[in-house]
Amino acid sequence: MKRLLSVVGARPNFMKIAPIARELRNSSEIQHRLVHSGQHYDEALSGSFFTELDLPKPDVNLEVGSGSHAVQTAEIMRSLEPVLLDWKPQMVLVVGDVNSTLAAALTAAKLGIDVAHVEAGLRSFDMTMPEEINRKLTDAISTLLFVTEKSGVDNLKREGVSQENVFLVGNVMIDCLLRHREAAARSPILDRLGMRRNGSSCLPYAVLTLHRPSNVENPTTFRGILSAVSNLAADLPVFFPVHPRTRKQIENFGFGHYLEDSGNTRRGIVPLDPLGYLDFLSLNTKASLVLTDSGGIQEETTVLGVPCLTLRENTERPATVDQGTNQVVGVDPDRIVAAARSALNNPRSAYTCPPLWDGKAAQRIAQILRQRLQGT
Ligand code: UD1
Repeated sequence: MKRLLSVVGARPNFMKIAPIARELRNSSEIQHRLVHSGQHYDEALSGSFFTELDLPKPDVNLEVGSGSHAVQTAEIMRSLEPVLLDWKPQMVLVVGDVNSTLAAALTAAKLGIDVAHVEAGLRSFDMTMPEEINRKLTDAISTLLFVTEKSGVDNLKREGVSQENVFLVGNVMIDCLLRHREAAARSPILDRLGMRRNGSSCLPYAVLTLHRPSNVENPTTFRGILSAVSNLAADLPVFFPVHPRTRKQIENFGFGHYLEDSGNTRRGIVPLDPLGYLDFLSLNTKASLVLTDSGGIQEETTVLGVPCLTLRENTERPATVDQGTNQVVGVDPDRIVAAARSALNNPRSAYTCPPLWDGKAAQRIAQILRQRLQGT
């Protein structure tokens, strides 16, 4: 049996590895182990995803925790190296673009172990984003590059990556969404928030997520976004599951007055604790509008057909704009308000799902992994 070791670490990794782990679960050709770096450790950002997505308990948890980029990356490398030396996998698989992705890829490549990168080739062309650095460096040392959308194939070609290692396979995050859509429909969250009564149709609401350092660590930018969303929230409630980084910054900057604190869920920006996968999918599915600086949510709203405004100056996922429901609106408050009102009043009717976002990406990846590992 060939040995494949996958490394995950932060929230958006878990829904990407779940469909791949499922595909490999009963494989007679590949023995699959899972390592959790411990980059995310709170139940709400990590543990709950393992339960809801039926992910196997990690074989090893490196428990590195939070730290600066250098400390976190270095700690993951230092603690992963002995695991790789001990188990001697033929290949290490990493997903996405977080610090755990790059740290694991670098550790494996330095030991001469092949690296497979899922979600390769995406580029924002903005090197101030830590994720862009992580993506470019991970791709540069990967021997198998699994790509979600055509722009990724084009980017890798431009960077001189050998095309025989590049595979347009679709989107494992969408595999996960399609698999859990029915379970999400049974989530009680909309009733809990007073948006749906006794199974009746939903009241209109929007959803906000923010966690990019460029948005929440600059007080001017953060204030501008919150004031624009407050303006919108005079007409409909805006539910805001707050990331721990963001919550800290709201306290630091004294921005609590932008949030509805009376428990009223009929208007205002309504802060929520970070949500589990099924509750968040349910909330997004019925939203009139989603405002976000996340990457994955741009893709999920495209498949759900929900209008999405990306509060950044760029996206590494252009298929969500060209084909899907996403608009990149930046962080200018007037522009956010105008785009939100326009999206609410004239929802875009013509959108499509990018090719191969069909729930079968993990199957394609597993097939290619089997072929490649046979030859090692
Ligand atoms: C990380 C990823 C980002 C991804 C995001 C999803 C990098 C560079 N960034 O950002 O790409 O979109 O995850 O959430 O890898 N914290 C907790 N509990 C936890 C984990 C973190 O409270 O379980 C707090 C800590 O104060 C920590 C801060 O959140 O310092 C930031 O965590 P970190 O993993 O460094 O970055 P994220 O902002 O979560």
